[in-house]
Amino acid sequence: MNNQPIGLFDSGIGGTSIWKEIIKLLPNEQTIYLADSKNAPYGKKSKDEIIALCVKNTELLISKGCKLIVVACNTATTNAIAYLRENYDIPFIGIEPAIKPAALYSETGAVGILATKGTLTSALFEKTANEYRQKITVIEQDGEGLVSLIEKGKINSLELENLLTKYLKPMLNFNVDHLVLGCTHYPYLIPQIKKIIGNKIQIIDSGEAVAKQTKAILIKNHLFCNEKHINPHQFYINIDKSVLEKMLVDVSVSFTIEELAF
Ligand code: DGL
Repeated sequence: MNNQPIGLFDSGIGGTSIWKEIIKLLPNEQTIYLADSKNAPYGKKSKDEIIALCVKNTELLISKGCKLIVVACNTATTNAIAYLRENYDIPFIGIEPAIKPAALYSETGAVGILATKGTLTSALFEKTANEYRQKITVIEQDGEGLVSLIEKGKINSLELENLLTKYLKPMLNFNVDHLVLGCTHYPYLIPQIKKIIGNKIQIIDSGEAVAKQTKAILIKNHLFCNEKHINPHQFYINIDKSVLEKMLVDVSVSFTIEELAF
C-alpha cells in the first residue's frame, strides 16, 4: 500500500502549484494528478454540481490505486470534502483560504482574501471567516474570470492584469497588510499581484502547509513511502494538454501527461 500513488485533483491546472510543493517535500512518493479543465471553473457551479465532479475525480483516482487524495482546489474542498470523507475510506487532504495566519500576524487589522465565488459562499469558509470577523476586517473579493484566463494560458495578458487591478486596488484603501490567495490557480499570478500591491503586503499561499499536512497524514496512517518511486508522475487532462505542459516546463522530475476523457 505504501508504494501506491498519492492522487490529486483540481478543476484544472492550478492545483499543480500544490503538486509542486508535494513532490518537493515528499520525493519518494509517486503521484497521479487529474486536471478537470473541461469543467473549469468550478467556482461558478452549485454545491451539488461541485460534489458530483469531485466524486467523478475521486473514483477515477481510486480506480488507479491511489492511497490518499489531495483535493488541490479550495472550491472543491470547501464544498465537497465533508461529503468525500463521509463516503470514501481513504484519507483526504484539502485546502482552504488561510485566514488564520493572516489574522494572527496582521498589524493593520485588515486582511484581503481573493478566492472564487464558490469558496467565498461556502458554509465552511463562512464559518472560518466568522471566527475572525470580530477581531479583524476581512475584505473578500471574488476573482471571477481569473481561473478561465489561466486555463487558457493567458497569465501575462493585459486582460488578466486589468482584472487583477480591478480586484486588488480597492483592498489597498482598507489598508490590508496580508493577501490570502484562496485559489490554487492564483500562486501563478504572484508576480502580477506584486506589481499591483507592492512588496509590503504579505501574500499568503497555503501550498507548503498542504504538503506538510499530507506528510503528517501519510505517517499517521502508515502510508508513507520509504523507498524512492520508480514510475514517473502521471498527469491526466480532459482537454488539450498544451497549457498544462507549459506550467510544468520548470519541473525536473520525470512525468507523463495524457489526454483522457473523464
Ligand atoms: N483551483 C481552484 C480553487 O482553488 C479553482 C476553482 C475554479 O475552478 O473556479 O478554487
